[in-house]
Amino acid sequence: MSKEREHWGSRWGFILAAMGSAVGLGNIWRFSYAMGEGGGSTFLVIYLLSVILIGFPVMMIEFAIGRRAQTDAIDAFKKLAPKSFWVVAGGMGVLAAFVILSFYGVIGGWSLKYIFSYLTGGISGNTETYFTEFVGTTIEPIGWQFLFMGITVAIVMLGVQKGIETSSKWMMPILSILLIVLAGYSLTLGGASEALTFMFHPDWSAFTNPSVYFAAVGQAFFTLSLGMGIMLTYGSYLSPKDKLTSSAAYIIILDTLFAIIAGLVVFPALFAFDLDPTQGAGLVFVVLPTIFEGISGIGLVVGVAFFILLALAALSSAISLLEVVVAYLIRRLGVSRKLATLGIGFVIFLVGIPSSLSQGAVTINVFGDSFLDFMDKFSGSLLLPLGGLIIAIYGTWSWKSDELLEHTDLKGVAWAPVFLFFAKFIAPLAILVILVFGMLNW
Ligand code: PHE
Ligand code: NA
Repeated sequence: MSKEREHWGSRWGFILAAMGSAVGLGNIWRFSYAMGEGGGSTFLVIYLLSVILIGFPVMMIEFAIGRRAQTDAIDAFKKLAPKSFWVVAGGMGVLAAFVILSFYGVIGGWSLKYIFSYLTGGISGNTETYFTEFVGTTIEPIGWQFLFMGITVAIVMLGVQKGIETSSKWMMPILSILLIVLAGYSLTLGGASEALTFMFHPDWSAFTNPSVYFAAVGQAFFTLSLGMGIMLTYGSYLSPKDKLTSSAAYIIILDTLFAIIAGLVVFPALFAFDLDPTQGAGLVFVVLPTIFEGISGIGLVVGVAFFILLALAALSSAISLLEVVVAYLIRRLGVSRKLATLGIGFVIFLVGIPSSLSQGAVTINVFGDSFLDFMDKFSGSLLLPLGGLIIAIYGTWSWKSDELLEHTDLKGVAWAPVFLFFAKFIAPLAILVILVFGMLNW
């Protein structure tokens, strides 16, 4: 039989690694451009509601399934519900991880490029031109993407504890401090009141737009690493005595704070410099250098520090994405961790190349979006919510209410009925409705 499953060094090791997966490019790069395109405050309100009403229950159920099954996403469903169709959710999760990592590696590569730029003199002049020219070249962005994927592969090859746990432990506090300081600075640039209105003053008429819901729910799943078995796989490294509720709450609160603070860095500066909030995937790579340029004296140092931290946060998320695919391959094909990681890491890199090229070098459009935007939307707004829906339905309808409460450590807790109501009815229904309308609209 298989040897004993590796377990986390401590509950905090698990929480930090799950936070490492959650906090990443999604909070800074994806959140700010999705919010910019989604009209600011309207997007923010729907996003926050999604995180609390859908994200929390789905995360709890993923942890619970993983902890009970003690195995990866696909096998978990086979084990807990043999010969049933639930295994589809696991398969979709592995697919989603694969697709997301393919373009995540591209953006991760952009962060590495910007570290290098700041180490070698910084970015001055028109930051938009600088960005467009860089992503519009053929080979260079692919080279950085290769480097980013190479680092990710190297860390995953070292194994669960050594690789993931240690790298998550120290970088998040530093990133949060730097973001807070930058937000403080950005708010002094003259765009604060416009930015605060944009971010926090909802325009109620915009709530009738289905595409904002589609984008906001997709962002909630993406940023929390939900709907694809990542949190499930992490949960499988937990032992039954580890508590789930507070872990999920810490992860969600922290991830949300990161996003909002990132917004407070990006939007005040954006309005101060008269930049366009709807410019899409390049947003932070244009706005942030503009901020750093204005910081006299230490702009270069801040630029280097920021992009190093962004790259590290991206790395810890990329590790978790690769881990899902690798865990599956190891068990399924019985190959070594080293072989599985190297092989699939390279394939994912190759699949990411069209995303990189689609940013200016070659026109690759799918349904009117660039290939990168398409992969991003397809995985974030479609695969993840769909996976989350199946997971939520599985957890709430195949387990009796009593079992669900027991598996999520909520038995006897005062608000357990509220949790049940949201987990069983509100979350699945909301996902379903938003998916259907989003698809029709797309
Ligand atoms: N949550 C990560 C982020 O915000 C991205 C991610 C999505 C990681 C899905 C794993 C799974 O950057
Ligand atoms: Na996130």
